[in-house]
Order: sequence, then structure tokens, then C-alpha cells
Amino acid sequence: MLSIQELSYSFEEEKPIFQGLTLDVKRGEFVSVIGASGSGKSTLFRLVTGLLEPGQGDILIDGQKTGKRLGSVGYMPQKDLLLPWRTVLENVVLPLEVTNESKQARLSEIREWLARFGLAEFENAYPNELSGGMKQRVAFLRTLMTGKELLLLDEPFGALDSLTKRNMHKWLLGLWGELQKTVLFITHDLEEAILLSDRIYLLQGTGIKEMKVTLPRPRSSQLIYQSEFITMRKELECLIHNES
Ligand SMILES: Nc1ncnc2c1ncn2[C@@H]1O[C@H](COP(=O)(O)OP(=O)(O)O)[C@@H](O)[C@H]1O
Ligand SMILES: [Mg+2]
Repeated sequence: MLSIQELSYSFEEEKPIFQGLTLDVKRGEFVSVIGASGSGKSTLFRLVTGLLEPGQGDILIDGQKTGKRLGSVGYMPQKDLLLPWRTVLENVVLPLEVTNESKQARLSEIREWLARFGLAEFENAYPNELSGGMKQRVAFLRTLMTGKELLLLDEPFGALDSLTKRNMHKWLLGLWGELQKTVLFITHDLEEAILLSDRIYLLQGTGIKEMKVTLPRPRSSQLIYQSEFITMRKELECLIHNES
């Protein structure tokens, strides 16, 4: 679904962000990207979406080395960018407006999704009337409405309190089986990365490391108390601290 080959990028010549970075994401996979703040996670996403162009290397989406990547992935930026003057429904249908699709034809499908996202009663509410978790679900649903197979989610739960985040994990794990999407997910929360992902990439220096999460699916949020989970967590800590 996504293949990044020998990618190099720098904003300033003497300070490269990536050098020869290679990674791949298979169709249907859930892959997390972790790394200290400033390690280049959001920059990587902006390269994949085509908002930035690589200095060197290739980025292939669905096997295509398209010069025009913009618009070929569903991208949820780090800062939730709901339009405050639009209702929940009006925010969610934004991608359809961009591509000139009929909203009317898809309204019943969209209402089903709103219900599935716990937003049924809020379709006419404005963003400032919503809780943090609800705002993120609206932004996520809007990303889904792009209809793209590959979704890039930049710290979607990063600003939520831990209780709300727990609920979002439960909800997303329940939803994941039926979504049939490929997700690249940025987080700084190690537990979240393990709980949700098939694989984890760690950005460190200008390079990258990889860890497979060998926990079976479907997963429940209770998994974090199991010994297999704690073993994975230790393995990830070792990777981070160069002990592997
Ligand atoms: N537009 C920009 N111009 C110059 N430097 C930038 C720009 N955007 C990000 N950076 C720098 O690139 C590095 C990686 O940033 P970023 O990708 O946002 O990191 P992360 O998302 O991992 O916290 C940081 O050192 C940041 O200051
Ligand atoms: Mg970032």
C-alpha cells in the first residue's frame, strides 16, 4: 500500500531529518510511528501526502510512483482542524464537497457512520459544543469520508485525557475489523502503539527501527494487563534504549 525507499529529507542542509529511510505498509495493516518529539514524525506524513517533496528517494502509494500524491491518501493532521462555523455533519461532508460528490446520495450512509462514531445526536452541533474525544471522532470520520484506502493519523488521541483515550481505544479496536483500511498512526504513547498496531516503526536520529507486535486479534483494551503485552512493552523499551 505504501512503500518509502531510501528517503532523505532536510529543512536545512546541515540538519537532515531523514537519511536513507526505508519503510513499507501492507494493505490492511495498522502501523504506528513513534519517536521523540521533533524526530520527524509529522514531517514524514507531510512527505507521504505530498505536502513536502523528498530530497532523495521514492514514495510509492499502491505501487504507483505518482508525482501527484496530494489527494491520494486520507490525512488527519496533528491539530484537529474542524471548521468552527460548520456543524458536525457539515464538517464530515467536507471531503465530498472537495471532490464534488453528491452529499444527498450518501446522507443515509453518513448518518450510519455518525451513529457508529457515537455522534448520531450531534450532527447539528458545532465543534465548540463537543468534548475532546468527540471532536477527534468527527475529524477521524471526516478523514474516512475521503474514501481513501490509506489513512494517515497524526497523534489523533494525543491531546485527550487518559480516561477518554481508553474509551477511544476500545472504540477503535471494535471498529478496526470492519473498517478494512490501511492505517499509519503517529503516537508518543507506547501502550497505545502496542495495543493498536501490527507493527511499530521507531524514528531515531535520521534512521528507523522496526518492531512486530505479535499479539493476536481481535484485541481488547484489557490486553494491557496481560503478560504478553508487558513483554512487548519491554521489548519496545529495549529498542528505544538501544539494548537490542
Ligand atoms: N516547516 C519547517 N521548517 C523548518 N523546520 C521544520 C519545519 N517543520 C518541522 N521542522 C523541524 O523538523 C523537525 C521535525 O519536526 P516534526 O516532523 O514536526 O517532528 P515530530 O512530529 O516528530 O514532533 C523538528 O526539529 C522541527 O523543528
Ligand atoms: Mg508531530
